[in-house]
Amino acid sequence: MLNTLSGKIIANLFFEPSTRTLNSFEIAAKRLGAFVLNTRLDTSSLAKGETVFDMVKNLEAMGASVFIIRHSNQKVIEEMSQQLNPQTTLINAGGGEEEHPSQALLDLFTISCHKPHFHHLTIAMIGDIRHSRVAHSFISAITKFGKPNIRLIAPLSLVPSHLNNTISVINNIEEGLKGADVVICLRLQKERIDEKTWASLQDFSADYCLTEERLQYAKPDVIVMHPGPMNRGVEISNAVADGKQSIILEQVNNGVAIRMALLELLSSVSF
Ligand code: CP
Repeated sequence: MLNTLSGKIIANLFFEPSTRTLNSFEIAAKRLGAFVLNTRLDTSSLAKGETVFDMVKNLEAMGASVFIIRHSNQKVIEEMSQQLNPQTTLINAGGGEEEHPSQALLDLFTISCHKPHFHHLTIAMIGDIRHSRVAHSFISAITKFGKPNIRLIAPLSLVPSHLNNTISVINNIEEGLKGADVVICLRLQKERIDEKTWASLQDFSADYCLTEERLQYAKPDVIVMHPGPMNRGVEISNAVADGKQSIILEQVNNGVAIRMALLELLSSVSF
């Protein structure tokens, strides 16, 4: 237990469900000595008509100096950052389909533990890339550190409409997995997919589920990742999720260390 953040109040405000991000930020903050408020939104005065912005300003007035926020609308998080005092820190813990920066940091760190040179890696991402803030933040982060070969393996309805020309889209999973160093599976984000597209995805697992047989197309030392939550049997089989190439729980474990590092770094420059 360290005391770098002793006396600091950190407020977790999660407007969407979370297991990994919420709890790892809480563990990270407590390991650094902070007091953590896990604000219950269902019993807060939001239910009485208070705005999110008033709620945050009130918590700030009570002494909270760091807000860790997840919201279905990235713009709400951006607007909130404008409303807070300049000394207050806001960490985006997942905004809409757009951003999940701390997940990108932990994913990069986890890859670097196994494959230190990002430049020549072939990274295959399978699943709902269009609606995935994890995918968006990951691609933007890894391309700052190197020029990996990124392949998106998904039906066209799940591929982002605007893509950098260094990224390829491959509809056939076996073709897309050939020679891959890293495979990242992503769940179908049912909450962000319209009904018509959802109806067209009934064969998704037959065509795109990562099975042991399909994984044979990747390099022998391939690593398999998933940010969670997994939908077992949809984008990833049990055998792969729990298999020897899987580093999924290592990602989760690294999430605590990365969020400790992030809080410590931010405390040294701001709160
Ligand atoms: N990776 C991730 O964001 O998981 P949670 O939704 O459980 O936080």
